[in-house]
Amino acid sequence: MEPGPSGPDQAGTARDPSDPGQPSPRTALVTGASSGIGAAVAKRIAAERAWRVVVSGRDQRRLAEIADQTSAVPVRADLATSAGVERLVTRTLDAVGHIDLLVAAAGVGWAGPLPEMPAAAVDEVLTVNLTAVAHLVRLVLPGMLAAGRGQIVLVGSTAGTYGVRREVVYSAAKAGVEALAESLRYELSDTGVRVLHVVPAAVDTPFFERRGTPYTRGVPRPLPPERVAEALWDALTHGRQEVFAPRWLGLPRRLRGMAPGLFRRLASRFG
Ligand SMILES: NC(=O)c1ccc[n+]([C@@H]2O[C@H](COP(=O)([O-])OP(=O)(O)OC[C@H]3O[C@@H](n4cnc5c(N)ncnc54)[C@H](OP(=O)(O)O)[C@@H]3O)[C@@H](O)[C@H]2O)c1
Repeated sequence: MEPGPSGPDQAGTARDPSDPGQPSPRTALVTGASSGIGAAVAKRIAAERAWRVVVSGRDQRRLAEIADQTSAVPVRADLATSAGVERLVTRTLDAVGHIDLLVAAAGVGWAGPLPEMPAAAVDEVLTVNLTAVAHLVRLVLPGMLAAGRGQIVLVGSTAGTYGVRREVVYSAAKAGVEALAESLRYELSDTGVRVLHVVPAAVDTPFFERRGTPYTRGVPRPLPPERVAEALWDALTHGRQEVFAPRWLGLPRRLRGMAPGLFRRLASRFG
Protein backbone atom coordinates (compact mmCIF):
# COMPACT_ATOMS: atom_id res chain seq x y z
CA MET A 1 0.00 0.00 0.00
CA GLU A 2 1.18 3.50 -0.76
CA PRO A 3 2.21 5.55 2.23
CA GLY A 4 0.16 8.70 2.86
CA PRO A 5 1.65 12.16 2.81
CA SER A 6 2.84 11.55 6.35
CA GLY A 7 3.86 7.97 5.63
CA PRO A 8 7.18 6.47 6.65
CA ASP A 9 8.98 7.97 3.68
CA GLN A 10 7.80 11.45 4.44
CA ALA A 11 6.47 11.32 7.98
CA GLY A 12 9.21 13.13 9.75
CA THR A 13 10.77 15.65 7.48
CA ALA A 14 10.08 18.18 4.80
CA ARG A 15 12.60 20.37 3.00
CA ASP A 16 12.99 23.80 4.52
CA PRO A 17 12.23 26.17 1.61
CA SER A 18 14.60 28.79 3.03
CA ASP A 19 17.42 26.24 3.09
CA PRO A 20 16.72 23.30 0.79
CA GLY A 21 19.66 21.39 2.27
CA GLN A 22 18.08 21.32 5.69
CA PRO A 23 15.09 19.19 6.56
CA SER A 24 12.50 21.16 8.54
CA PRO A 25 10.37 19.31 11.08
CA ARG A 26 6.75 18.51 10.37
CA THR A 27 4.41 20.05 12.89
CA ALA A 28 1.52 18.45 14.74
CA LEU A 29 -1.21 19.90 16.94
CA VAL A 30 -2.74 17.38 19.37
CA THR A 31 -5.81 18.37 21.38
CA GLY A 32 -6.77 16.45 24.51
CA ALA A 33 -3.04 15.93 25.02
CA SER A 34 -3.12 16.56 28.79
CA SER A 35 -4.60 13.10 29.41
CA GLY A 36 -5.38 9.62 28.09
CA ILE A 37 -5.41 9.00 24.34
CA GLY A 38 -4.21 12.49 23.36
CA ALA A 39 -1.21 12.23 25.71
CA ALA A 40 -0.33 8.79 24.31
CA VAL A 41 -0.62 10.13 20.73
CA ALA A 42 1.64 13.09 21.55
CA LYS A 43 4.24 10.67 22.94
CA ARG A 44 3.92 8.42 19.89
CA ILE A 45 4.48 11.31 17.50
CA ALA A 46 7.36 12.65 19.59
CA ALA A 47 9.02 9.22 19.45
CA GLU A 48 9.50 9.81 15.71
CA ARG A 49 11.82 12.66 16.73
CA ALA A 50 11.46 14.66 13.52
CA TRP A 51 8.19 16.28 14.54
CA ARG A 52 7.56 19.56 16.33
CA VAL A 53 4.49 18.94 18.47
CA VAL A 54 2.05 21.37 20.07
CA VAL A 55 0.07 19.80 22.91
CA SER A 56 -3.20 21.29 24.08
CA GLY A 57 -5.52 20.80 27.03
CA ARG A 58 -6.87 22.77 29.97
CA ASP A 59 -5.03 21.37 32.99
CA GLN A 60 -1.80 23.35 33.26
CA ARG A 61 0.12 20.85 35.41
CA ARG A 62 -0.67 17.76 33.34
CA LEU A 63 -0.11 19.66 30.12
CA ALA A 64 3.31 20.87 31.32
CA GLU A 65 4.25 17.28 32.24
CA ILE A 66 3.37 15.95 28.78
CA ALA A 67 5.10 18.89 27.12
CA ASP A 68 8.27 18.10 29.12
CA GLN A 69 8.11 14.42 28.21
CA THR A 70 7.60 15.12 24.50
CA SER A 71 9.64 18.34 24.08
CA ALA A 72 6.37 19.85 22.87
CA VAL A 73 5.01 23.37 23.03
CA PRO A 74 2.10 23.49 25.52
CA VAL A 75 -0.88 25.66 24.58
CA ARG A 76 -3.70 25.81 27.10
CA ALA A 77 -7.14 26.23 25.59
CA ASP A 78 -10.75 25.63 26.52
CA LEU A 79 -12.44 24.23 23.43
CA ALA A 80 -15.93 24.76 24.81
CA THR A 81 -16.13 28.06 22.92
CA SER A 82 -15.29 28.99 19.33
CA ALA A 83 -13.10 31.81 20.70
CA GLY A 84 -11.09 29.19 22.63
CA VAL A 85 -10.59 27.18 19.45
CA GLU A 86 -9.52 30.29 17.55
CA ARG A 87 -7.00 31.20 20.28
CA LEU A 88 -5.57 27.67 20.15
CA VAL A 89 -5.02 27.79 16.38
CA THR A 90 -3.58 31.33 16.50
CA ARG A 91 -1.15 30.43 19.30
CA THR A 92 -0.16 27.22 17.56
CA LEU A 93 0.61 29.06 14.33
CA ASP A 94 2.53 31.73 16.28
CA ALA A 95 4.59 28.98 17.93
CA VAL A 96 5.33 26.65 15.01
CA GLY A 97 4.32 28.50 11.85
CA HIS A 98 2.10 25.92 10.20
CA ILE A 99 0.23 22.70 10.99
CA ASP A 100 0.90 19.52 9.00
CA LEU A 101 -1.03 17.18 11.27
CA LEU A 102 -4.07 17.86 13.43
CA VAL A 103 -5.11 15.20 15.94
CA ALA A 104 -8.46 16.18 17.48
CA ALA A 105 -8.61 13.99 20.57
CA ALA A 106 -10.20 16.28 23.18
CA GLY A 107 -13.51 14.92 24.34
CA VAL A 108 -15.86 14.57 27.25
CA GLY A 109 -18.49 11.97 28.14
CA TRP A 110 -21.75 11.79 30.05
CA ALA A 111 -23.73 8.65 30.86
CA GLY A 112 -27.26 8.20 32.19
CA PRO A 113 -30.85 8.40 30.96
CA LEU A 114 -31.43 11.39 28.67
CA PRO A 115 -34.17 13.05 30.80
CA GLU A 116 -31.68 13.17 33.69
CA MET A 117 -28.95 14.83 31.64
CA PRO A 118 -28.43 18.45 32.76
CA ALA A 119 -28.83 21.01 29.97
CA ALA A 120 -25.25 22.22 30.54
CA ALA A 121 -23.95 18.67 30.05
CA VAL A 122 -25.84 18.36 26.74
CA ASP A 123 -24.22 21.58 25.57
CA GLU A 124 -20.73 20.59 26.76
CA VAL A 125 -20.83 17.11 25.22
CA LEU A 126 -22.02 18.42 21.84
CA THR A 127 -19.68 21.41 21.86
CA VAL A 128 -16.41 19.78 22.92
CA ASN A 129 -16.89 16.54 20.97
CA LEU A 130 -18.35 17.94 17.76
CA THR A 131 -18.69 21.73 17.40
CA ALA A 132 -15.10 22.39 18.51
CA VAL A 133 -13.84 19.77 16.04
CA ALA A 134 -15.67 21.48 13.17
CA HIS A 135 -14.21 24.85 14.20
CA LEU A 136 -10.70 23.39 14.52
CA VAL A 137 -10.80 21.79 11.10
CA ARG A 138 -12.30 24.95 9.59
CA LEU A 139 -9.39 27.01 10.94
CA VAL A 140 -6.58 24.55 10.20
CA LEU A 141 -7.65 23.63 6.66
CA PRO A 142 -6.74 26.84 4.80
CA GLY A 143 -3.04 26.40 5.65
CA MET A 144 -3.12 22.74 4.63
CA LEU A 145 -4.92 23.52 1.37
CA ALA A 146 -2.41 26.26 0.55
CA ALA A 147 0.43 23.79 1.23
CA GLY A 148 -1.30 21.09 -0.83
CA ARG A 149 -0.86 18.56 1.95
CA GLY A 150 -1.89 17.76 5.49
CA GLN A 151 -3.40 15.13 7.76
CA ILE A 152 -6.53 15.53 9.86
CA VAL A 153 -7.15 12.86 12.47
CA LEU A 154 -10.54 12.86 14.20
CA VAL A 155 -11.00 10.70 17.28
CA GLY A 156 -14.55 9.33 17.28
CA SER A 157 -15.97 6.41 19.22
CA THR A 158 -17.75 3.12 18.60
CA ALA A 159 -20.63 4.83 20.46
CA GLY A 160 -20.96 7.09 17.41
CA THR A 161 -20.85 4.22 14.96
CA TYR A 162 -23.30 1.90 16.72
CA GLY A 163 -25.20 3.99 19.29
CA VAL A 164 -25.20 3.24 23.01
CA ARG A 165 -28.11 3.43 25.45
CA ARG A 166 -27.64 5.94 28.28
CA GLU A 167 -24.98 7.71 26.19
CA VAL A 168 -27.30 9.11 23.55
CA VAL A 169 -25.94 12.66 23.29
CA TYR A 170 -22.33 11.46 23.39
CA SER A 171 -23.17 8.86 20.72
CA ALA A 172 -24.84 11.54 18.58
CA ALA A 173 -21.83 13.84 18.90
CA LYS A 174 -19.44 11.06 17.88
CA ALA A 175 -21.74 10.07 14.99
CA GLY A 176 -21.37 13.68 13.93
CA VAL A 177 -17.58 13.29 14.03
CA GLU A 178 -17.88 10.24 11.78
CA ALA A 179 -20.05 12.20 9.31
CA LEU A 180 -17.60 15.10 9.48
CA ALA A 181 -14.71 12.77 8.59
CA GLU A 182 -16.63 11.09 5.78
CA SER A 183 -17.90 14.34 4.25
CA LEU A 184 -14.53 16.06 4.56
CA ARG A 185 -12.91 13.20 2.71
CA TYR A 186 -15.19 13.83 -0.28
CA GLU A 187 -14.66 17.58 -0.07
CA LEU A 188 -10.88 17.22 0.15
CA SER A 189 -10.30 14.60 -2.53
CA ASP A 190 -7.47 15.70 -4.84
CA THR A 191 -6.29 18.42 -2.43
CA GLY A 192 -3.47 16.45 -0.80
CA VAL A 193 -5.20 16.72 2.60
CA ARG A 194 -6.17 13.38 4.08
CA VAL A 195 -8.64 12.51 6.81
CA LEU A 196 -8.34 9.63 9.26
CA HIS A 197 -11.22 8.64 11.55
CA VAL A 198 -10.04 6.76 14.65
CA VAL A 199 -12.75 4.75 16.37
CA PRO A 200 -11.81 3.48 19.84
CA ALA A 201 -14.13 1.30 21.92
CA ALA A 202 -13.23 1.30 25.63
CA VAL A 203 -9.88 2.77 26.60
CA ASP A 204 -8.32 2.77 30.05
CA THR A 205 -8.11 6.52 30.72
CA PRO A 206 -9.60 8.96 33.26
CA PHE A 207 -12.53 9.47 30.82
CA PHE A 208 -14.97 7.31 32.83
CA GLU A 209 -14.02 8.74 36.21
CA ARG A 210 -14.45 12.26 34.83
CA ARG A 211 -17.87 11.57 33.40
CA GLY A 212 -18.87 10.21 36.81
CA THR A 213 -19.91 6.73 35.65
CA PRO A 214 -17.47 3.82 35.64
CA TYR A 215 -17.05 1.42 32.73
CA THR A 216 -18.69 -1.85 33.79
CA ARG A 217 -18.90 -4.01 30.64
CA GLY A 218 -16.86 -7.19 30.45
CA VAL A 219 -16.46 -6.89 26.65
CA PRO A 220 -14.71 -5.12 25.04
CA ARG A 221 -12.01 -4.90 27.64
CA PRO A 222 -10.50 -1.41 27.95
CA LEU A 223 -7.33 -1.01 25.87
CA PRO A 224 -4.31 0.91 27.12
CA PRO A 225 -4.23 4.36 25.44
CA GLU A 226 -0.84 3.47 23.96
CA ARG A 227 -2.54 0.74 21.88
CA VAL A 228 -4.91 3.32 20.41
CA ALA A 229 -1.99 5.68 19.73
CA GLU A 230 -0.12 2.87 17.96
CA ALA A 231 -3.19 1.94 15.88
CA LEU A 232 -3.64 5.62 14.97
CA TRP A 233 -0.01 6.01 13.94
CA ASP A 234 -0.03 2.78 11.94
CA ALA A 235 -3.21 3.86 10.09
CA LEU A 236 -1.76 7.32 9.48
CA THR A 237 1.50 6.06 8.09
CA HIS A 238 -0.30 3.57 5.83
CA GLY A 239 -2.71 6.19 4.45
CA ARG A 240 -5.82 4.49 5.87
CA GLN A 241 -9.09 6.38 6.21
CA GLU A 242 -10.47 4.69 9.30
CA VAL A 243 -9.25 2.47 12.10
CA PHE A 244 -11.17 0.76 14.89
CA ALA A 245 -9.39 -0.04 18.16
CA PRO A 246 -9.72 -2.94 18.74
CA ARG A 247 -9.95 -3.75 15.05
CA TRP A 248 -12.65 -6.44 15.41
CA LEU A 249 -15.15 -3.81 16.51
CA GLY A 250 -15.38 -2.68 12.88
CA LEU A 251 -16.99 -6.03 11.98
CA PRO A 252 -20.49 -5.42 13.43
CA ARG A 253 -20.92 -2.60 10.90
CA ARG A 254 -20.73 -5.16 8.12
CA LEU A 255 -23.41 -7.23 9.87
CA ARG A 256 -25.57 -4.09 10.18
CA GLY A 257 -25.21 -3.49 6.43
CA MET A 258 -26.17 -7.07 5.55
CA ALA A 259 -28.78 -7.79 8.23
CA PRO A 260 -29.91 -4.60 9.99
CA GLY A 261 -32.79 -6.30 11.85
CA LEU A 262 -30.52 -8.98 13.30
CA PHE A 263 -27.90 -6.35 14.13
CA ARG A 264 -30.42 -4.24 16.08
CA ARG A 265 -31.76 -7.26 17.98
CA LEU A 266 -28.22 -8.21 19.02
CA ALA A 267 -27.25 -4.61 19.77
CA SER A 268 -30.26 -4.03 21.99
CA ARG A 269 -29.41 -7.21 23.87
CA PHE A 270 -25.68 -6.48 24.28
CA GLY A 271 -25.29 -2.76 23.74
N1 LIG B 1 -11.69 6.39 27.05
C1 LIG B 1 -12.52 5.76 26.24
O1 LIG B 1 -13.02 4.65 26.54
C2 LIG B 1 -12.86 6.33 24.89
C3 LIG B 1 -13.52 5.51 23.97
C4 LIG B 1 -13.85 6.00 22.71
C5 LIG B 1 -13.52 7.30 22.39
N2 LIG B 1 -12.89 8.11 23.30
C6 LIG B 1 -12.59 9.47 22.88
O2 LIG B 1 -11.19 9.64 22.92
C7 LIG B 1 -10.88 11.01 23.16
C8 LIG B 1 -9.90 11.09 24.32
O3 LIG B 1 -10.53 10.58 25.49
P1 LIG B 1 -9.69 10.01 26.70
O4 LIG B 1 -10.18 8.65 26.96
O5 LIG B 1 -8.25 10.24 26.48
O6 LIG B 1 -10.28 10.93 27.87
P2 LIG B 1 -9.53 11.78 29.01
O7 LIG B 1 -8.37 11.04 29.56
O8 LIG B 1 -10.61 12.23 29.92
O9 LIG B 1 -8.95 13.04 28.19
C9 LIG B 1 -9.81 13.99 27.65
C10 LIG B 1 -8.98 15.14 27.10
O10 LIG B 1 -9.87 16.11 26.53
C11 LIG B 1 -9.56 17.41 27.09
N3 LIG B 1 -10.75 18.23 27.20
C12 LIG B 1 -11.95 17.92 27.74
N4 LIG B 1 -12.76 19.00 27.72
C13 LIG B 1 -12.04 20.01 27.15
C14 LIG B 1 -12.31 21.37 26.86
N5 LIG B 1 -13.49 21.95 27.16
N6 LIG B 1 -11.34 22.12 26.28
C15 LIG B 1 -10.13 21.57 25.98
N7 LIG B 1 -9.81 20.29 26.23
C16 LIG B 1 -10.76 19.53 26.82
C17 LIG B 1 -9.00 17.11 28.46
O11 LIG B 1 -8.24 18.23 28.88
P3 LIG B 1 -8.00 18.56 30.47
O12 LIG B 1 -7.78 17.23 31.13
O13 LIG B 1 -6.77 19.40 30.46
O14 LIG B 1 -9.24 19.23 30.93
C18 LIG B 1 -8.17 15.86 28.19
O15 LIG B 1 -6.92 16.21 27.67
C19 LIG B 1 -12.21 11.70 23.44
O16 LIG B 1 -12.64 12.33 22.25
C20 LIG B 1 -13.14 10.56 23.79
O17 LIG B 1 -14.48 10.87 23.49
C21 LIG B 1 -12.55 7.65 24.53
